[in-house]
Amino acid sequence: MTPWRMSRSFLSSPPSVTEARRFVTAFLSGWPVVDTAELIVSELATNAIRHSASKRFGGRFYVGIQAHHDRVWLGVSDEGGSGAPAMLSPDEEQEGGRGLLLVATLADSYGVRGDENGRTVWAVMLVDTATASPTPLPGAGASSA
Ligand SMILES: Nc1ncnc2c1ncn2[C@@H]1O[C@H](COP(=O)(O)OP(=O)(O)O)[C@@H](O)[C@H]1O
Ligand SMILES: [Mg+2]
Repeated sequence: MTPWRMSRSFLSSPPSVTEARRFVTAFLSGWPVVDTAELIVSELATNAIRHSASKRFGGRFYVGIQAHHDRVWLGVSDEGGSGAPAMLSPDEEQEGGRGLLLVATLADSYGVRGDENGRTVWAVMLVDTATASPTPLPGAGASSA
C-alpha cells in the first residue's frame, strides 16, 4: 500500500466536530482503527473549538491523516492561544476532563507540538498487519491485491 496523507480545514463550530468525524470515517473506512480514530478526532476537535484560539469568531481547525500500512497518524491543529492541552488528574476532573485521557488510552502514542501560535495534538494508532489489509486512499488508483 502506498502511504497517503490527507488534510482538511473546518470552521470552529460544533457541527464541524461531526464533519471532522465523517471526514475521518470516509478516508479510514475499512481500516481496523476507524472507530478509534473517530473517537479521537471527536475529542480533539471539541478541544480545539472549546479551549484554543480557534474558538474566536471565524476560527478554524485542521484535521490531518497520514496512513501507512502498519499505522495511522491523526492530528488536529488549532490556532494556539495561551492555554495548552494538559491531561487533568482525576480529582481535577469535573463534568468533563476525560478527553485527553481517552485519547492517551486509545492511541498507541500521542503528543502535542507547537506553541501559542498554533498547536497540533496528534495520535498514532498501530494497525495489526497480520489480521488487517488496510484499504488504499479512495480514488487514488492504487491497486489492492
Ligand atoms: N487544543 C487545546 N488548546 C488549549 N488547551 C487545551 C486543548 N485541548 C485541551 N486543552 C486543555 O486541556 C484540558 C484537558 O482536556 P480534556 O481532557 O479534553 O478535558 P475537557 O475538554 O473536558 O476540559 C482542557 O480543560 C484544556 O484546559
Ligand atoms: Mg475535551
